[in-house]
This record gives sequence, C-alpha cells and structure tokens, in this order.
Amino acid sequence: MPASSLEQIVSLAKRRGFVFPSSAIYGGLGSTWDYGPLGVELKNNVKRAWWRSVVYDRDDMEGLDAAILMNRLVWKYSGHERTFSDPMTDCRKCKARHRADQLYKSATGSDYTNAESFNAAAQAGELKCPKCGEIDLTDARPFNLMFKTTVGPVDTGDDSGLAYLRPETAQGIFVNFGNVLDTMRRKLPFGVAQIGKAFRNEITPGNFTFRTREFEQMEIEYFVRPGEDEAAHQAWIDARTKWYTDLGLRPDNLRQREQTKDELAHYAKRCVDLEYRFPMGWSELEGIANRTDFDLKAHSRSPENPDAVGELRYFDQEQKKHIVPYVIEPSAGADRATLAFLCDAYDESLVKEPPAEESAKLRELVESFGRSVEKRDPKVMEPAVKERLLAAAERIAAGLPGTLPDLLALSDDAEANRIEVFKKVRGTAEKLGEEHTRTVLRLHPRLAPITVAVFPLKKNEPRLVELARGIKRDLQVAGLRSVYDDTGAIGKLYRRQDEIGTPFCITVDFQSLDDGTVTVRDRDTMGQERVSVGELGGALRAKVT
Ligand code: GAP
Repeated sequence: MPASSLEQIVSLAKRRGFVFPSSAIYGGLGSTWDYGPLGVELKNNVKRAWWRSVVYDRDDMEGLDAAILMNRLVWKYSGHERTFSDPMTDCRKCKARHRADQLYKSATGSDYTNAESFNAAAQAGELKCPKCGEIDLTDARPFNLMFKTTVGPVDTGDDSGLAYLRPETAQGIFVNFGNVLDTMRRKLPFGVAQIGKAFRNEITPGNFTFRTREFEQMEIEYFVRPGEDEAAHQAWIDARTKWYTDLGLRPDNLRQREQTKDELAHYAKRCVDLEYRFPMGWSELEGIANRTDFDLKAHSRSPENPDAVGELRYFDQEQKKHIVPYVIEPSAGADRATLAFLCDAYDESLVKEPPAEESAKLRELVESFGRSVEKRDPKVMEPAVKERLLAAAERIAAGLPGTLPDLLALSDDAEANRIEVFKKVRGTAEKLGEEHTRTVLRLHPRLAPITVAVFPLKKNEPRLVELARGIKRDLQVAGLRSVYDDTGAIGKLYRRQDEIGTPFCITVDFQSLDDGTVTVRDRDTMGQERVSVGELGGALRAKVT
C-alpha cells in the first residue's frame, strides 16, 4: 500500500535517519530540514543520476558551479528585484500570514489575477483566514522573496553592500554563457547544467521538504538557434519525463501540465510543468520553459542595460553574423525529486492479520482518542487541527486492522501526542505494527542509500564474521555502497534493510566456508540465490548500473 499521507513519509524519514527537523535542540526553525546519514546518500544519488543523464550521457552539455552570492546588478537586470514576489495577506485577528493567491484560489475556485479582485473579495467577507476562520484580512501586497545579506565587514546602513542569496541557480548560468562558449569552443545547440542551493523567503513553506526556504535546484539552460527552439523544447520535455520513470516513478503518478497563457512568465513562450501525485495532491516537480532570448539580452550591454560590460551573443558561422540564442530551461528541485522518489517507493502492508480481539482493543482506544479530541477546548486546540485529528481517528477506527500503517504514521504527530490517551494508542499500535506489518522502500537500486547489506549467520562465529566483513570491504572498494550488520537475527536485519530500501542483502553461512558461495536476497521478490563470492561485485554492479 503506497503512502496515503505525507506524515507516513515524515515519520519514516525521521525514524530511519533520512531527514531530521533542523536545530531541533533549540525548538527547530520552521520548515528547515537536515538530511541525515541515509537522506544525504539518497539525495546525492538523485543528483548523481541527474548529472549523469544530462551531462555525461549527452554530447551537447557542460557543467558549472557558480557562486551563490553574485553582483546585485544580476538581480536588477534579471528582473528579480522588481518582480520576484508573491502576493501576501495578514489576518488581523490571529496575525497569521498567507499567500493571497493560494487563499483566493481555494476560497473562490478561480485563479488570482490581481490584488484588486482579492481586496474586493476580502472586503465583501468572502475570504476567511485558513488558520482561525475569521473574516478580517488585510489587502494583498507584494512580498519580495529574495533573502538579503551584506557583503563586507562593515554594515554601512545603506544599500552599498547589499547582496542577495540567489533565488535560482539559472542566472549563474546566463552570466557565464560567454565564458563557457569561449573556453569549451561550443557550437549551438549546447547546454549548461548546474546543481546548487537556492533561497526564497517563502510566505508559506510547508509539506515537509516540498516547499522550504533553502533548497537545491538542478537546472539546465540549453541554448539553441531561434527557430529550433520549439523542437528542442519538446525533446527536453520528453527526456525529462523519461528520466523520472526510468528511475522508478510510476507513470500514473507523473503528468505533464501545460501552463496557461495567464500563468506564463512574461518572457516565456511556452512552459510545461512536470507534476507528481504527492500525498497532498498533484504538485510541481519540475518546470520546463522556453525562455526565448530574454535572459541573454537582459544581461547584455544596451540602452536598457548600461551597466553590463559586454554582450552575451553567438557568432553564427552559417549566417556570418551575431545572433542571440533562445534558451530552453528544464528546472528541477533536488529536494522535491528526492521526496517524490521516497513517496513513490513507500510500500507498507499488513503481512498477517492481528487476532480480532487485538484489533478490537485498538479500535476502542482510537475511538476514545477521537472522543478526547472532540472535547478539546478550541482555545487549546485550533479548529483546523481538531478537524484533521477527528477525521484521522474516524477513518483509522473504521478501517482497522488495514489502517494500522496510517495509525503508525500518526505516532509522531505532536498535536496527537498532547492527548493523554494517545500514548496508549501509540504503544498498542507500535506493538501490533512490529509483529504484523512490513514496510519496504522500493527505491530504484541506483537511488537506494545502501546498495548491499552483509550479515554473518552467527555473530559469535569468527570465521563467518571475518568473511562477511571482508565481503563488505571488497564490495565497497568495487564502488557499491555497503554496510555490515550483525546486531539481530537475520529476519530482523532483512526488515531493517527493507525499510530503508536496500535492494540486496547477503548472508554468509556455514556453506560459505565450504564452497565460497553466499545467499543474495532480493528486496522486491524476496527470492534468494547462491552466488560465489568472486562473482558478487560483477553480478550486483550489473543490477545497479
Ligand atoms: N529558474 C527557474 C526556476 O527557478 P521555479 O519553478 O521557480 O523555476 C524550479 O523553480 C524548481 O525548483 C521547482 O519546480 C521546484 O522543484 C524547485 N523549487 C522551487 N521553489 C522551491 C522551494 N521553495 N522549495 C523546494 N523546491 C523548490
């Protein structure tokens, strides 16, 4: 059963060392996350797979790693200083801050087009604060999303040292267009790929790592002759869609959405969003835009830009003249892609039914939890939280034992844990879960944080331990991320590795000492085969690459 809520993913990510709330020891910092030992491996594998696909597997691409801090003029002439903002509104009652466009769309069903229609609807009492439900919202006003900082040791109090943390990596590529062209002797069409941090002071970050203020982008700027842009755009839309499905995303969970004329950025000729069906609904994974010649022109010296010291253009040998290339931009988020792969790989199921009386006892506990939520004073528990917990309790109680995985996901919910009876619910659910459910992350072997886990059948048998440790070392040297574990019975060790997505487990037993073979167990089929130690590296590498 795939994840039905983001909480299941958040819970697994925290429990098993993928992602932790940042600076938790000081109470955290809203919507900032740290990738733990397994998360960093997974995200690195996503980035590596992307780099390999868009740089190494092609002949028309170069890589780049530009600075995060850039001359402020980059953001002036890119248009970000003037236009990189979201409309914002405040609730005068509870002081919560919201994206005016999102609030307008969810209340009216129509797209937000301008502040005037938002303000009129707010004044007519048609818009409610999503947090407290009151009808007292301020007019919508633009909020620039760029983080400001000061360059140099002295804060002069004016704007002379002002710089921004880049809100996208793209501009670093545009301003390096001439450098790459000259040093790499490229001819059109060619592209530049870059992976790096970007920062946006989002008004409403949330949904785990989906929308954060610090995130990583994987961006391509692909330069083509005007006239060849439409075909190149379509080719990139197809290539990028295939990349996700080749790495295991279910095609049913991925779709291409054509941006409407109203949504298109003023410089874009066409833009297609690749959307993934996250547990919270279809949401953008990557945008693939035809940005025309807007960016290269914007950063070239001209009457509109007297600050640039040169022109970003290309000498076309065929036409014997300078042209300004068009740009196709596939722009993906490394964190969003990692989250999508995690959600898609998640599979939790009941492996055997718990005895009926145990399910009934748990159902009673969940119902009693629901009653406690119902009685909660609205001053202590916000209406939206109450509604969410009541709905969860009702759904889980009605579906037990099948909804046991959803109940386990609720274990980390801070609001649920404030209710006394929930501790009992959690204890009982965790005990049943331990005995009756199996969680597997069916990650593509190339993305899995650990490729192979090696176990000795007995940890107090030195010959088995020595052989197992040696196999682990050799596989690691052969380039396969491997771990050794002897801290439990083999069944338990398999479960642990299934939960973090390890595709292969190797067990060293007494037969291994006689004939030099070990068992290799496949995570997905749970089938086991004997393979000779000498052939392990080759056999496993063939499955991973
Ligand atoms: N250069 C074009 C550009 O930046 P974008 O649609 O604003 O376009 C591209 O961002 C991708 O970056 C998005 O599709 C998403 O995957 C990722 N992204 C954008 N904002 C994000 C945020 N606040 N948190 C996480 N990822 C984000």
